[in-house]
Amino acid sequence: MIIAVDGPTASGKGTISLALARHFGLPHLDTGLLYRAVGWQVSLDGKNPDDPNDALSCTAFPDSLLLDPILRSEGTGGLASRVSVHHAVREALFERQRGFALQPGGAVLDGRDIGTVIAPEAEVKLFVIASVEARARRRWKEMQERGDTRTLAEIEDDLRRRDERDRTRAESPLRPADDAVMLDTSDLGKDAAIAAAVAAAEKKLQS
Ligand code: C5P
Repeated sequence: MIIAVDGPTASGKGTISLALARHFGLPHLDTGLLYRAVGWQVSLDGKNPDDPNDALSCTAFPDSLLLDPILRSEGTGGLASRVSVHHAVREALFERQRGFALQPGGAVLDGRDIGTVIAPEAEVKLFVIASVEARARRRWKEMQERGDTRTLAEIEDDLRRRDERDRTRAESPLRPADDAVMLDTSDLGKDAAIAAAVAAAEKKLQS
C-alpha cells in the first residue's frame, strides 16, 4: 500500500503523513528533506543553486546530512526550492524515492510530486492545502519557538515566492493528481487535520 501526501510548505502534510504512517504501520519518507540536503550541500560547497550542474554534483550528499537540524531552516527550504527546479536533480533523486515507495508492505511519502510522478499508482493520494496566511502563521509560531526573529510578513512573502516557484516550474510542478483527495487544513488544528486525513485514507481504501 502506497500513500502519497503532496502539498505546499507548511500545509500540514508532514504531520499528517507521519500520523498516517503510524496509523497504518508503514515507513515514512519526507522527500522534501532530500531536496533540502542537496540545497545545503550546494551551500557547503560554495556552489550555485541555480546552476544545474552545480546542483547535480551535490545530489550525492552523505546520508548523515539528513540528520542535520540546519535542513529544517527556512534558508535551506529556499535553497531546496531552487535546486529542485533542475531536471537532472529530480532525476538523480527519483530512484531513491521510487525504491522507498515500492518496498514490500508499502510506504507513506510526502512531497510535491509523489502522486503524480514518484508513485502515480499509489492507492491513497492526499493533496493537503491551507491558505498562505494560515501557513505563514504556523511557520512563524514554529520560528518564534526556535528564537528566530523573522516577521510574519517576511515569512508570508517567502512562502508566496516558494509556492510560485514550485507551481510554475517546468519539471514536476506542484499540482494535485487527478485522483487525489483534497484536504484543506486552514481551519483545522493538528488533531482534527490528522483525523480528517485518516478518515479520507480509510474511505479511499474501502472504495
Ligand atoms: O516540503 P519541504 O518544504 O521540505 O520542501 C522543500 C522544497 O523542496 C520545496 O519548496 C520544493 O521546492 C522541493 N520539493 C520538491 N519535490 C518534493 C519535495 C520537495 O520539489 N517531492
